[in-house]
Order: sequence, then structure tokens, then C-alpha cells
Amino acid sequence: MRSPTTAETTLPPGAHLEKSVVMVGLMGTGKTSIGRMLAKRLKMDFVDADAEIVAAAGCSIEEIFETHGEPSFRSGERSVIARLLDGPVRIIATGGGAFMDPETREHIAKNAISVWLHADLDTLVKRVSRRGGRPLIKNADPRQVIDELMKIRDPIYAKADIRVETSDDPSNKVTEQVIAALEDYTGLKPLAAPKKTTTRKMDTK
Ligand code: S3P
Repeated sequence: MRSPTTAETTLPPGAHLEKSVVMVGLMGTGKTSIGRMLAKRLKMDFVDADAEIVAAAGCSIEEIFETHGEPSFRSGERSVIARLLDGPVRIIATGGGAFMDPETREHIAKNAISVWLHADLDTLVKRVSRRGGRPLIKNADPRQVIDELMKIRDPIYAKADIRVETSDDPSNKVTEQVIAALEDYTGLKPLAAPKKTTTRKMDTK
């Protein structure tokens, strides 16, 4: 067997992941922000499925729902995610409903590692109120919609390979928890270089 070269041994550890990591969970769980942070820590590429759908459609998710209806959005979502999964290994954030589709779920199970970001109802209601553009809660009571979605979707999200709680911690801490969970799941340790702690010089004056 050939011994690894310096270049190989210094490869960013995330580059050794053989499968993409797919973030799933309800709206407001932080799939995009944690996914992006995770990609940075693992020195991998990041892609957001919703952003890809918007780019392909040339209009916002709200407009797709309004003009073409939810089934059309779902079918676009299914094909965009299939395309992303067939591409290079990377971190993929999905929209909250994507994992509900049996075909997408099967595709993810075969080709990726799924990470369910979970948060409690109060946290989600607080978070979704910070940004609009979500047709499912437009002109509706977000608490009621999210509560109903949780009941329907949580048992399905529970099929994901990994679950991480996001209610109480800031994004960087949640990201570290995702990395630890991925290390346990894959046996690849460490997946990321330890976080540098910045030390300030003592004022000697
Ligand atoms: C949806 C969640 C949204 C977006 C669309 C539908 C859902 O994504 O895909 O509005 O069905 O839960 P986020 O989870 O990123 O908000």
C-alpha cells in the first residue's frame, strides 16, 4: 500500500466524508444557518435547496406557491434535491417539507447522511417571526401551523440518521454538536480542526 503524501494527510477532514450531509427539520430550526456554518467548519461546499429552486424558477417560493401551487413547488423541490444529491459531496440544507416526500427521503437515505435539527414550539415561533417569505404561515397563526406540522412531521423527521437539539444553544454551539454527532455516526474523528480560541495579550502596563 502506498503511504499517504503530506497533501493527503493535510486534507481538511470533512473532505473525507463519503456522503453529503443533508439538513432536515421544520422551518426555523436553522437548517440554512447551521448548514452554512457546518460547511465552513468542515471546509466543504454548502448549497441551499430552496435557493436552488428559486434560481431555477426565477421567482420567490411565495410566488411559486401563489402562481403554480404547492404541488408544483414540491415536484420542483424533488428534482432539485435529486440533482444536488447526485452531485459532489457537500452540505445541503433542505426546505422543511422536503423530507416528507418518500422519494426524496429514500434518495437521501441512499446517498447522504441526514441531520434532523429539532427545536421546541416556542423557539420556532420566535424564530420564524424574524423573517417572512414562508407561504405556509402567510396569513395564518404561525403557532398553530407549526404545532400542527410538528405533530405530522416529527415522526417522519425522526427517521433521519442524526438528531440534534437546537432550542437552547447559539448556532456555533449547535454546529459543534452536529460535528460531534457526525463523528460518532461516521467514526471519522476528528472531522473538523478544533476551534481556535483567541487569546488576548495581557496588558503589562
Ligand atoms: C416549507 C419550508 C420552507 C420552504 C417552503 C415550504 C415547509 O423552507 O421550503 O416555504 O413545507 O415546511 P424553510 O424550512 O427553510 O423555511
